[in-house]
Amino acid sequence: MRIGLAFDLKADHEARAGGPDDLLEEYDSPATVAAIEAALRECGHEVELLGGGRRFVAALLERPPELVFNLAEGALTRSREAHVPAVCELLRVPCTHSDPLTLALTLDKALAKRVVASHGLATPRFAVIEHTRELDTLALGFPCIAKPLCEGSSIGIRNSSRAADRSALRREVERMLGDYRQPVLVEEFLTGTELTVGVLGSGNSARVLGMMEIGPRRAPAAEFVYSLESKRNWREEVEYHVPPRLPAAAIGAAHALALGCHRALGCRDLSRIDLRLDAHGAPHFLEANPLPGLNPETGDVVILARRSHMPYDELVARVVHEALARSGVRA
Ligand SMILES: Nc1ncnc2c1ncn2[C@@H]1O[C@H](COP(=O)(O)OP(=O)(O)O)[C@@H](O)[C@H]1O
Ligand SMILES: [Mg+2]
Repeated sequence: MRIGLAFDLKADHEARAGGPDDLLEEYDSPATVAAIEAALRECGHEVELLGGGRRFVAALLERPPELVFNLAEGALTRSREAHVPAVCELLRVPCTHSDPLTLALTLDKALAKRVVASHGLATPRFAVIEHTRELDTLALGFPCIAKPLCEGSSIGIRNSSRAADRSALRREVERMLGDYRQPVLVEEFLTGTELTVGVLGSGNSARVLGMMEIGPRRAPAAEFVYSLESKRNWREEVEYHVPPRLPAAAIGAAHALALGCHRALGCRDLSRIDLRLDAHGAPHFLEANPLPGLNPETGDVVILARRSHMPYDELVARVVHEALARSGVRA
């Protein structure tokens, strides 16, 4: 089958650099594109590199592939991740991963939390801050964590984003409002084990691919932030455990919560749901990643899959299989 790869490389967006050095952190490297291309060819598919933005739109109009494999993060707006699947929807080309509504919804972390909470699923208490004066009346317990409202890949999130008191929080919020030009999500900070859960499939047939504990090598566990610093220096800062070192009841609860969130948010084919336990051991939803990074070395869902006995090529093939099955297309 002829599969088109949609992606945004860091190099495609360098003209926008000049702000904080993590502004382009979401974009892929040529190594990721090459690894997916190789995995698809290994399955016998023909692969075309379509890129993103206008180049992608032109390619789709000129010679639509039979399926788009979507990695594209888009640019500039909170709907950026919805751009490629919206074009696919418009031109009736099947596309892997979630639809435009889910991709836009989940990029806005507060909207995603509201939807999850409305399904009776646990997520930390939060506020959305547009001006620092709103912090004067903040009714959350400390410590808190601040994060840019509509980003991923720990863009903006540093070790200092965990704030023990109001003045530390104010410094973080000021930095984020200035550097990232969007509102800031402030949440109560959970001190328990952090988990990330890979989910395959859609709706009622969604199932957990694997679950991974993400813990610090150096920092005290209760203060750990999987920040930009720790993601960039993961070999030294972070240790991964599959399965997590937790009692069966906590694993069962996390399993149910991750599936509930994937379904509540309408995720399809593959997602990675980030969770953290509170001080009593109960899991809460942090955020959903409906386009989880697929770097063959560093992608969390790739590490998690590998340690759950699913090699890279099989993970990529699964995503294609899920997308084709729900679109009613035969390979
Ligand atoms: N409410 C919270 N309590 C404790 N840690 C948090 C909380 N929110 C985020 N974190 C930490 O910050 C990291 C990044 O936050 P996350 O919401 O997953 O953003 P990103 O989209 O950048 O991955 C998490 O992996 C976790 O370590
Ligand atoms: Mg995350």
